[in-house]
Amino acid sequence: MMGAKNDALKAFYSSLLFSSPITVKNTPLIEDIFRTQELLEDIGVKVTKSSGRVFKLDAGTIKKSFLKKSLVESMRASILLVGPMLLRKKNVSFVHPGGCVIGKRPIDIFLDGWGKMGAKITLSRGIYRLHTALLHGCDFTFPIVSMTGTESLMMTAVLAKGRTILRNAALEPEIPHLAKFLNEGGATIYGAGTPTITIEGSAGRPLKGGIFTTMPDRIEAGSFAVFAATRGGKLTIKNCNPEHLSVLLKALEDCGAQIKTGKNWMIVSRLAKLRAIDILKTREYPGFPTDLQAPFVVLLTQAEGTSLVFETVFEGRLNYVEDLNRMGAHITTCDSHRVLINGPTPLFARRVESPDIRAGLAFVIAAAIADGESLIENVYQIDRGYERIDKRLKALGVDIRRENS
Ligand code: EPU
Repeated sequence: MMGAKNDALKAFYSSLLFSSPITVKNTPLIEDIFRTQELLEDIGVKVTKSSGRVFKLDAGTIKKSFLKKSLVESMRASILLVGPMLLRKKNVSFVHPGGCVIGKRPIDIFLDGWGKMGAKITLSRGIYRLHTALLHGCDFTFPIVSMTGTESLMMTAVLAKGRTILRNAALEPEIPHLAKFLNEGGATIYGAGTPTITIEGSAGRPLKGGIFTTMPDRIEAGSFAVFAATRGGKLTIKNCNPEHLSVLLKALEDCGAQIKTGKNWMIVSRLAKLRAIDILKTREYPGFPTDLQAPFVVLLTQAEGTSLVFETVFEGRLNYVEDLNRMGAHITTCDSHRVLINGPTPLFARRVESPDIRAGLAFVIAAAIADGESLIENVYQIDRGYERIDKRLKALGVDIRRENS
């Protein structure tokens, strides 16, 4: 598997916290990384790609405090630049971050956190402006668990003055990985990967640059696992950490797949028919990942019986099911968070458009098992998170080609 998008991106944004260049290895060559590179270069960060997947980021000079609108609107992760900018420039302006169309995606929690750390915040004509003389530590409780919220306030707290305690923090494995990298550079972060994170701020003293090796992408590994179980047969997935996917793997077994795992590999095979699952509920890590909900729904269209899928993290992440119904699925929408899937139903080729990275990938899986030739549009969304997905699926026997747009 490739390096994780949601790991490498955070390392890129953290470059502003360092007084010397940082090196990011095993970087996935995906569109969100390229847009992040453009966003960082626009404010003055020197980004150089040496060999293959190794990027060097030198944030010695930051020349602007306005984040480029088109890039912020293309990617939610851009919000991770705000805290480090505030520390470096004392002020930052930006529009509401865009990205995947999967729900409202407000930034109220981030703003609340920066406000508690001493930032003055205004919103006028769609532009947020934050400024501060000095950011100070605070005791902050997340009202709901937020991955980038946790990462963002953790990064901001590292150079703030005094102690910050983050309560009800997110638990995704990318968070302790980021904390370890920051600590190696001189930060003092305890408890990352638990619900309470304590950061002793350095009062502006920057970190010393080091090397970040991106961890394997658990969502990509999970996507291939769901693909294998949906199509049937056997697939070996290397360079992954099955421990990060235990709830997904349990769900696959419950549906009739066989799973074998080692330290950094897994084999997914499915010879018998798929079975429905009573209820599949997405949850924050370590629960069933919302990012694998759409691919799993495609699998459930092929399972015998009725399954209930309950998306608890995002309120707009089931909109794609209408397109699966056009392909022949029998999915009933109960409300914006719940669908009932009756299977198995054969799928038929259709023309569909990717609404976001993960539903786009789900359409690719659906098209791979559908009868006939499907056309998937807006594959930019898929390329944001999956590197060369067409070539890699072709190598697995899927009849897939990229059309020139
Ligand atoms: N939320 C708020 N207010 C905020 C922030 C979040 O209400 O200020 C809500 C969200 O609307 C959502 C819930 O909190 O209902 C949890 O969202 P979270 O903040 O955890 O999501 P995120 O940090 O924006 C990251 C990943 C997503 C992944 C989610 C959940 C990155 C760049 N993005 O998003 O990844 O789905 O965590 O695990 O790390 C993807 O890779 O395709 C993707 C969407």
